[in-house]
Amino acid sequence: MSSINYSEKIPNNVNLSEDRTLQRALEQWQPNYLQWWDDMGPEGSQNFDVYLRTAVSVDPQGWAQFGHVKMPDYRWGIFLNPAEKDRRIHFGDHLGEAAWQDVPGEHRANLRRIIVTQGDTEPASVEQQRHLGLTCPSQYDLRNLFQVNVEEGRHLWAMVYLLHKYFGRDGREEGEALLERRSGNDDNPRILQAFNEKTPDWLSFFMFTYFTDRDGKFQLCALAESSFDPLARTTKFMLTEEAHHMFVGESGVSRVIQRTCAAMIELKTDDPAKLRAAGVIDLATIQRYLNFHFSVTIDLFGADQSSNAAIFYSTGLKGRFEEGKRADDHVLKGQHYKVLEVQGDQLVEKDVPMLNALNEVLRDDYIKDSVGGVERWNKVIEKAGIPFRLKVPHKAFHRNIGSLSGVKVSPDGRVVHDHEWNQNVEQWLPTDEDRAYVASLMGRVVEPGRFANWIAPPMIGINRQPVNFEYVRFN
Ligand SMILES: [Fe+2]
Ligand SMILES: [Fe+2]
Repeated sequence: MSSINYSEKIPNNVNLSEDRTLQRALEQWQPNYLQWWDDMGPEGSQNFDVYLRTAVSVDPQGWAQFGHVKMPDYRWGIFLNPAEKDRRIHFGDHLGEAAWQDVPGEHRANLRRIIVTQGDTEPASVEQQRHLGLTCPSQYDLRNLFQVNVEEGRHLWAMVYLLHKYFGRDGREEGEALLERRSGNDDNPRILQAFNEKTPDWLSFFMFTYFTDRDGKFQLCALAESSFDPLARTTKFMLTEEAHHMFVGESGVSRVIQRTCAAMIELKTDDPAKLRAAGVIDLATIQRYLNFHFSVTIDLFGADQSSNAAIFYSTGLKGRFEEGKRADDHVLKGQHYKVLEVQGDQLVEKDVPMLNALNEVLRDDYIKDSVGGVERWNKVIEKAGIPFRLKVPHKAFHRNIGSLSGVKVSPDGRVVHDHEWNQNVEQWLPTDEDRAYVASLMGRVVEPGRFANWIAPPMIGINRQPVNFEYVRFN
């Protein structure tokens, strides 16, 4: 079951050849996908040989095989984690019943919506990142970008497989629509706002892969608990790929910080103007980028109170993060959770039914997880002996969804009036000038082993290759 059949047109470990109708439907979708990749995938990269890993098995050991491939020839396919024998539903109203191997009619619309919403984020991020290859800071980074891109492409495959296999004609139509929406397009945008934002430079890319791919991790973790077993199994395998994306983000930001700190020590200054003159990104700008990406990303968890979230949980479609590890009744009726609201000039906590607050529960779990990496970034600054610390902003800062949307809150969590907001917003969020400065640093560095001035090289290469390995052959 776990080994992948690569002799077929669509690599898979789901015995695709035994279901001719499904196989044919997916084989019809495949050229449309490749056309989308051609149109919207990494710009000008079609002919590059890229040192990529490809899944060869879903076993935790040795699932990846590395080699140079042209991205359009990447073996995108369908990989599910092995089935767990006699898996039972472990939360919600159906607790204890057998997990579903098919979609129950009454949950069809909601499940389809969940799968489409997840699926839509995958091609969206490829679209957002499609120009970045033109300004890569090194071959090593270029390769990592492309690895993330092909895996997001595969995540789209994962969701389209579920749509085709379990949702009939509706599912096939959704599969087409996933290739038609475009990130940032006015007429036919991607579903979620963070996936319509631009990723214009590599600092944004690293912040995105640290913060926004981590949202992906939490959504996938919640879906990995689903009573709909095929969804649980496919998201479990997606999570193994997601880990690398967050590594790219965390190590990328860390290397930017490392380079900045080195310049600060060398020039004995913390003056942003002097540091910019030296061609590195000052820590205050990094903090503003962090504030932006963190706040935009936590909006992705949705409204703090949501009857849909309650329905998705109670019906067993979507669990909590690490549902299986929690020691409560996994039904949550009559339980409460604290959400924030504004009363007068104050943010106050309010108890609401936990079932309605499950978006907030997931958001809070996410916040705990994302703080960890920020602390590791601070270690780099601390080691350099520089008295500056990065901080994730208060969760009410710069929000656009739920009861906090539109309320002006400072990064340290004070409700502020327009006047104070306007006076300080340039310290809190990236300005046009910040973005223009960062953009001005984005050259293209592609000689093996060379790195742009604004970022430090990594400690080690990919798959134990040297840092100056030829990760991309441009042909
Ligand atoms: Fe993904
Ligand atoms: Fe990802």
